[in-house]
Amino acid sequence: MTASLIDGKTIAASVRANVTEAVDELKLTYGYVPTLAVVLVGEDPASQVYVKSKHKFTKEAGMGSIEHKLPADVDEKTLINLIHDLNADDKVDGILVQLPLPKLIDTDKVIAAIEPAKDVDGLTEINAGRLSLGKPGLRPCTPEGCVILAKRALKDGDSLSGKHCVIVGRSILVGKPAAFLFLEQNCTVTIAHSRTKNLDKVCRSADILVAAVGRPLMLKGDWIKKGAIVIDVGINRVANDNPKFKRKTKLVGDMDFDAAVKRAGAITPVPGGVGPMTIACLLRNTVLASCARRKMAMPDI
Ligand code: GUN
Repeated sequence: MTASLIDGKTIAASVRANVTEAVDELKLTYGYVPTLAVVLVGEDPASQVYVKSKHKFTKEAGMGSIEHKLPADVDEKTLINLIHDLNADDKVDGILVQLPLPKLIDTDKVIAAIEPAKDVDGLTEINAGRLSLGKPGLRPCTPEGCVILAKRALKDGDSLSGKHCVIVGRSILVGKPAAFLFLEQNCTVTIAHSRTKNLDKVCRSADILVAAVGRPLMLKGDWIKKGAIVIDVGINRVANDNPKFKRKTKLVGDMDFDAAVKRAGAITPVPGGVGPMTIACLLRNTVLASCARRKMAMPDI
């Protein structure tokens, strides 16, 4: 058996198309443009690529895109003052501070400065708390993308309800919020991590396996129950030892894809799986944030 591929690029494009339609409608009806502000500190190459991509897709969806680039040695106060300015700027609907921040900056303090109504990453204590309480709020983009992909991978008429979802990874950006989001879908959820005993056995009990540990190829193919849905969040750059390819490095997930594809029912590729969904969900969150803040009806996107 070979798993079917969960095509994140196509699914993300369909989410972005819905967002674009909602943006057009908002422009026509209310005459304003939902706008996202992204703050990038320093020169981390991966972060630069993400931010460029966010800008491109934000513009493509017809939304406003504001970028603030600050040097790596910026002091915390200047960064927090910028966030306060963005909080107060009525035309800004969403604020995203690209992570990771340079080591000397207190990330928790910076995130806490973001107005929860504009926190399109869903990282503030208010939004994280709302998620854990099952109350409406802005949800982190990557785990939201995981749920959408898992739903799309289901067979016709099937639902996530009652399925065992094992999430390997407990980060605040992915693992923990993913657990609450799959719980919201009535999954039975297990959060596992690098210190979980018998991790292979735990993974083998999953109907839906979410790999979010950030270690290249850590999860092995025979850890997968036959027919399971595998969502690989990992984006790891490793040396490319295949002489057929010119590039010295390549991207791999947390899952040993070549082995996993032989057992899973459906699996996300890396790249082209979860990655594109993060930006699509970010745009969606920005539109939802703009409607909530302006007390307008929420579009069904
Ligand atoms: N860095 C990697 N992924 C993310 C994300 O989803 N949000 C932010 N703010 N930074 C990131």
